[in-house]
Amino acid sequence: MTLSPTPEILVFSDQEELSRQAAEAVVCTLLAARERPRLSLALSGGNTPLGLYRRLAAPPLRDAVPWDRLEVFWSDERAVPPDHPESNFRLARESLLDHVPLTPAQIHRPPVDGAALKAVAIRYAAEIRRVLGGKTPRFDLILLGLGADGHTASLFPGSPALAAADPVAAVEAPAVGGLPRLTFTPVLLNAAHSVFFLAAGPGKAPAVRLALQSRAAPTTCPARIVAPEDGRVRWFLDGDAAALLKPPSE
Ligand code: 6PG
Repeated sequence: MTLSPTPEILVFSDQEELSRQAAEAVVCTLLAARERPRLSLALSGGNTPLGLYRRLAAPPLRDAVPWDRLEVFWSDERAVPPDHPESNFRLARESLLDHVPLTPAQIHRPPVDGAALKAVAIRYAAEIRRVLGGKTPRFDLILLGLGADGHTASLFPGSPALAAADPVAAVEAPAVGGLPRLTFTPVLLNAAHSVFFLAAGPGKAPAVRLALQSRAAPTTCPARIVAPEDGRVRWFLDGDAAALLKPPSE
Protein backbone atom coordinates (compact mmCIF):
# COMPACT_ATOMS: atom_id res chain seq x y z
CA MET A 1 0.00 0.00 0.00
CA THR A 2 1.22 3.52 -0.61
CA LEU A 3 0.67 6.26 1.93
CA SER A 4 -1.29 9.23 0.70
CA PRO A 5 0.41 12.66 0.76
CA THR A 6 2.91 12.93 3.60
CA PRO A 7 1.26 13.50 6.95
CA GLU A 8 1.85 16.96 8.43
CA ILE A 9 3.90 16.74 11.62
CA LEU A 10 3.42 19.50 14.21
CA VAL A 11 5.67 19.47 17.27
CA PHE A 12 4.89 21.61 20.31
CA SER A 13 6.91 22.52 23.38
CA ASP A 14 4.72 20.58 25.76
CA GLN A 15 1.37 18.80 26.08
CA GLU A 16 -0.33 22.02 27.18
CA GLU A 17 0.62 23.74 23.93
CA LEU A 18 -0.20 20.60 21.93
CA SER A 19 -3.71 20.58 23.41
CA ARG A 20 -4.21 24.29 22.80
CA GLN A 21 -3.12 24.14 19.18
CA ALA A 22 -5.00 20.93 18.47
CA ALA A 23 -8.21 22.39 19.93
CA GLU A 24 -7.86 25.48 17.75
CA ALA A 25 -7.23 23.25 14.73
CA VAL A 26 -10.41 21.27 15.50
CA VAL A 27 -12.42 24.49 15.47
CA CYS A 28 -10.79 25.69 12.26
CA THR A 29 -11.44 22.35 10.58
CA LEU A 30 -15.10 22.36 11.57
CA LEU A 31 -15.57 25.98 10.54
CA ALA A 32 -13.95 25.25 7.19
CA ALA A 33 -16.69 22.64 6.60
CA ARG A 34 -19.50 24.80 7.97
CA GLU A 35 -21.24 25.05 4.60
CA ARG A 36 -22.17 21.40 4.99
CA PRO A 37 -25.61 20.92 6.64
CA ARG A 38 -24.25 18.36 9.11
CA LEU A 39 -20.69 18.21 10.49
CA SER A 40 -19.22 15.00 11.85
CA LEU A 41 -16.54 14.56 14.48
CA ALA A 42 -15.23 11.28 15.90
CA LEU A 43 -13.63 11.56 19.33
CA SER A 44 -10.64 9.51 20.38
CA GLY A 45 -10.35 7.54 23.56
CA GLY A 46 -7.38 7.48 25.92
CA ASN A 47 -6.15 10.37 28.05
CA THR A 48 -4.13 12.43 25.59
CA PRO A 49 -7.14 14.32 24.16
CA LEU A 50 -8.33 15.44 27.64
CA GLY A 51 -6.66 18.85 27.36
CA LEU A 52 -8.15 19.33 23.90
CA TYR A 53 -11.65 18.40 25.11
CA ARG A 54 -11.42 20.81 28.06
CA ARG A 55 -10.41 23.66 25.73
CA LEU A 56 -13.33 22.98 23.40
CA ALA A 57 -15.62 23.03 26.46
CA ALA A 58 -14.61 26.55 27.53
CA PRO A 59 -14.56 30.03 26.03
CA PRO A 60 -13.36 31.22 23.59
CA LEU A 61 -13.34 27.99 21.55
CA ARG A 62 -16.67 26.76 22.90
CA ASP A 63 -18.33 29.84 21.44
CA ALA A 64 -16.76 29.28 18.02
CA VAL A 65 -17.82 25.69 17.36
CA PRO A 66 -20.96 25.24 15.18
CA TRP A 67 -22.46 22.88 17.78
CA ASP A 68 -25.97 23.08 16.31
CA ARG A 69 -24.93 21.13 13.21
CA LEU A 70 -22.33 18.82 14.79
CA GLU A 71 -22.74 15.05 15.13
CA VAL A 72 -20.35 13.40 17.60
CA PHE A 73 -19.21 9.78 17.43
CA TRP A 74 -16.30 7.75 18.89
CA SER A 75 -13.51 6.19 16.82
CA ASP A 76 -13.40 3.40 19.37
CA GLU A 77 -14.94 2.38 22.68
CA ARG A 78 -14.29 -0.25 25.30
CA ALA A 79 -17.09 -2.73 26.01
CA VAL A 80 -18.05 -1.20 29.36
CA PRO A 81 -21.05 0.78 30.63
CA PRO A 82 -21.03 4.55 29.96
CA ASP A 83 -20.21 5.38 33.57
CA HIS A 84 -17.31 2.92 33.83
CA PRO A 85 -13.85 4.38 34.59
CA GLU A 86 -12.55 2.78 31.35
CA SER A 87 -15.30 4.28 29.18
CA ASN A 88 -14.14 6.66 26.44
CA PHE A 89 -17.67 8.09 26.41
CA ARG A 90 -17.43 8.89 30.15
CA LEU A 91 -14.10 10.69 29.68
CA ALA A 92 -15.57 12.82 26.87
CA ARG A 93 -18.85 13.44 28.72
CA GLU A 94 -17.08 14.74 31.83
CA SER A 95 -14.48 16.87 30.02
CA LEU A 96 -16.53 18.10 27.05
CA LEU A 97 -20.10 16.95 26.39
CA ASP A 98 -21.58 18.09 29.71
CA HIS A 99 -20.35 21.63 29.01
CA VAL A 100 -21.45 22.28 25.42
CA PRO A 101 -24.87 22.79 23.78
CA LEU A 102 -25.25 19.42 22.04
CA THR A 103 -28.62 17.67 22.18
CA PRO A 104 -28.66 13.96 23.12
CA ALA A 105 -29.60 13.19 19.50
CA GLN A 106 -26.27 14.64 18.37
CA ILE A 107 -24.23 12.43 20.68
CA HIS A 108 -23.83 8.95 19.20
CA ARG A 109 -22.41 6.79 21.96
CA PRO A 110 -21.46 3.29 20.76
CA PRO A 111 -24.05 1.08 22.52
CA VAL A 112 -21.36 -1.36 23.67
CA ASP A 113 -23.03 -2.44 26.87
CA GLY A 114 -25.39 -5.31 26.35
CA ALA A 115 -25.69 -6.92 22.96
CA ALA A 116 -22.91 -8.98 21.40
CA LEU A 117 -20.20 -6.65 20.08
CA LYS A 118 -20.43 -7.97 16.50
CA ALA A 119 -24.10 -6.97 16.39
CA VAL A 120 -23.25 -3.62 17.97
CA ALA A 121 -20.62 -2.99 15.29
CA ILE A 122 -23.25 -3.52 12.58
CA ARG A 123 -25.69 -1.23 14.39
CA TYR A 124 -23.09 1.49 14.93
CA ALA A 125 -22.07 1.41 11.27
CA ALA A 126 -25.75 1.72 10.31
CA GLU A 127 -26.12 4.75 12.60
CA ILE A 128 -23.06 6.40 11.08
CA ARG A 129 -24.48 5.79 7.59
CA ARG A 130 -27.89 7.09 8.66
CA VAL A 131 -26.43 10.34 9.96
CA LEU A 132 -23.58 10.96 7.51
CA GLY A 133 -25.03 9.19 4.44
CA GLY A 134 -23.16 7.10 1.93
CA LYS A 135 -22.01 3.48 2.01
CA THR A 136 -18.63 4.59 3.36
CA PRO A 137 -19.39 7.80 5.26
CA ARG A 138 -16.79 10.55 5.23
CA PHE A 139 -16.15 12.15 8.63
CA ASP A 140 -15.16 15.80 8.59
CA LEU A 141 -12.68 15.05 11.35
CA ILE A 142 -11.54 11.94 13.21
CA LEU A 143 -9.36 12.27 16.32
CA LEU A 144 -6.96 9.41 17.03
CA GLY A 145 -4.43 8.56 19.69
CA LEU A 146 -1.38 6.36 19.44
CA GLY A 147 -0.52 3.51 21.75
CA ALA A 148 3.08 2.73 22.70
CA ASP A 149 2.68 -0.43 20.60
CA GLY A 150 1.65 1.59 17.53
CA HIS A 151 -2.07 0.89 17.83
CA THR A 152 -4.62 3.53 17.02
CA ALA A 153 -8.32 3.53 17.80
CA SER A 154 -8.64 -0.12 18.80
CA LEU A 155 -6.63 -1.42 15.85
CA PHE A 156 -3.89 -3.40 17.58
CA PRO A 157 -0.86 -5.05 15.96
CA GLY A 158 -1.92 -8.20 14.12
CA SER A 159 -5.63 -7.44 14.50
CA PRO A 160 -7.95 -8.94 11.87
CA ALA A 161 -9.85 -5.61 12.01
CA LEU A 162 -6.97 -4.08 10.04
CA ALA A 163 -8.27 -5.97 7.00
CA ALA A 164 -11.98 -5.63 7.77
CA ALA A 165 -14.27 -4.74 4.87
CA ASP A 166 -16.80 -3.18 7.23
CA PRO A 167 -16.48 0.37 8.61
CA VAL A 168 -16.80 -0.70 12.26
CA ALA A 169 -15.50 -3.88 13.89
CA ALA A 170 -15.67 -5.66 17.22
CA VAL A 171 -12.20 -6.56 18.50
CA GLU A 172 -11.02 -8.93 21.20
CA ALA A 173 -9.33 -7.57 24.31
CA PRO A 174 -5.77 -6.62 23.38
CA ALA A 175 -3.00 -8.75 24.84
CA VAL A 176 -2.07 -6.07 27.36
CA GLY A 177 -4.87 -6.72 29.85
CA GLY A 178 -7.42 -4.82 27.87
CA LEU A 179 -11.15 -5.01 27.25
CA PRO A 180 -13.11 -6.13 24.20
CA ARG A 181 -13.78 -3.08 22.07
CA LEU A 182 -15.57 -1.53 19.15
CA THR A 183 -13.40 0.30 16.61
CA PHE A 184 -13.51 2.23 13.37
CA THR A 185 -11.65 0.19 10.75
CA PRO A 186 -9.28 1.56 8.07
CA VAL A 187 -12.30 1.60 5.72
CA LEU A 188 -13.84 4.42 7.73
CA LEU A 189 -10.63 6.09 8.89
CA ASN A 190 -9.34 6.37 5.32
CA ALA A 191 -12.55 7.94 4.04
CA ALA A 192 -12.16 10.91 6.39
CA HIS A 193 -11.66 14.46 5.17
CA SER A 194 -9.28 15.07 8.06
CA VAL A 195 -7.53 12.99 10.72
CA PHE A 196 -5.67 14.33 13.75
CA PHE A 197 -3.27 12.08 15.66
CA LEU A 198 -2.40 13.27 19.16
CA ALA A 199 0.62 11.79 20.97
CA ALA A 200 2.55 13.10 23.95
CA GLY A 201 5.23 11.90 26.31
CA PRO A 202 8.52 10.02 25.95
CA GLY A 203 6.75 6.66 26.09
CA LYS A 204 5.24 7.33 22.67
CA ALA A 205 8.50 8.34 20.93
CA PRO A 206 9.38 4.87 19.55
CA ALA A 207 5.84 4.35 18.22
CA VAL A 208 5.82 7.84 16.66
CA ARG A 209 9.09 7.12 14.87
CA LEU A 210 7.78 3.73 13.73
CA ALA A 211 4.56 5.30 12.50
CA LEU A 212 6.16 8.21 10.67
CA GLN A 213 9.72 7.25 9.74
CA SER A 214 9.85 3.51 9.20
CA ARG A 215 8.73 0.99 6.63
CA ALA A 216 6.95 -1.08 9.24
CA ALA A 217 3.94 -2.96 7.94
CA PRO A 218 0.57 -1.74 9.22
CA THR A 219 0.04 -5.05 10.92
CA THR A 220 3.12 -4.23 13.02
CA CYS A 221 2.27 -0.54 13.43
CA PRO A 222 -1.45 -0.05 12.79
CA ALA A 223 -1.19 3.76 12.87
CA ARG A 224 0.57 3.45 9.49
CA ILE A 225 -2.58 2.18 7.85
CA VAL A 226 -4.25 5.58 8.30
CA ALA A 227 -3.74 7.26 4.94
CA PRO A 228 -6.98 8.79 3.65
CA GLU A 229 -7.16 8.71 -0.16
CA ASP A 230 -8.67 12.17 -0.25
CA GLY A 231 -7.97 13.52 3.20
CA ARG A 232 -5.45 15.33 5.34
CA VAL A 233 -3.51 13.76 8.24
CA ARG A 234 -1.94 15.93 10.91
CA TRP A 235 0.14 14.71 13.84
CA PHE A 236 0.10 16.85 16.99
CA LEU A 237 3.13 15.90 19.08
CA ASP A 238 4.95 17.27 22.06
CA GLY A 239 8.76 17.39 22.04
CA ASP A 240 9.06 14.16 24.02
CA ALA A 241 6.89 12.14 21.65
CA ALA A 242 8.79 13.58 18.65
CA ALA A 243 12.23 13.05 20.23
CA LEU A 244 13.23 10.12 17.98
CA LEU A 245 12.10 11.69 14.71
CA LYS A 246 14.89 12.64 12.31
CA PRO A 247 14.62 16.26 11.15
CA PRO A 248 13.23 16.59 7.62
CA SER A 249 16.16 16.38 5.17
CA GLU A 250 16.97 19.85 3.95
C1 6PG B 1 -8.45 3.55 23.47
C2 6PG B 1 -7.94 4.59 22.53
C3 6PG B 1 -6.54 4.29 22.14
C4 6PG B 1 -5.75 5.45 22.71
C5 6PG B 1 -4.28 5.14 22.77
C6 6PG B 1 -3.52 6.27 23.48
O1 6PG B 1 -9.67 3.39 23.57
O2 6PG B 1 -7.61 2.98 24.18
O3 6PG B 1 -8.70 5.05 21.62
O4 6PG B 1 -6.32 4.16 20.77
O5 6PG B 1 -5.99 6.60 21.90
O6 6PG B 1 -4.11 3.94 23.49
O7 6PG B 1 -4.02 6.37 24.79
P1 6PG B 1 -3.47 7.55 25.76
O8 6PG B 1 -3.88 8.84 25.12
O9 6PG B 1 -4.18 7.31 27.07
O10 6PG B 1 -1.98 7.38 25.83
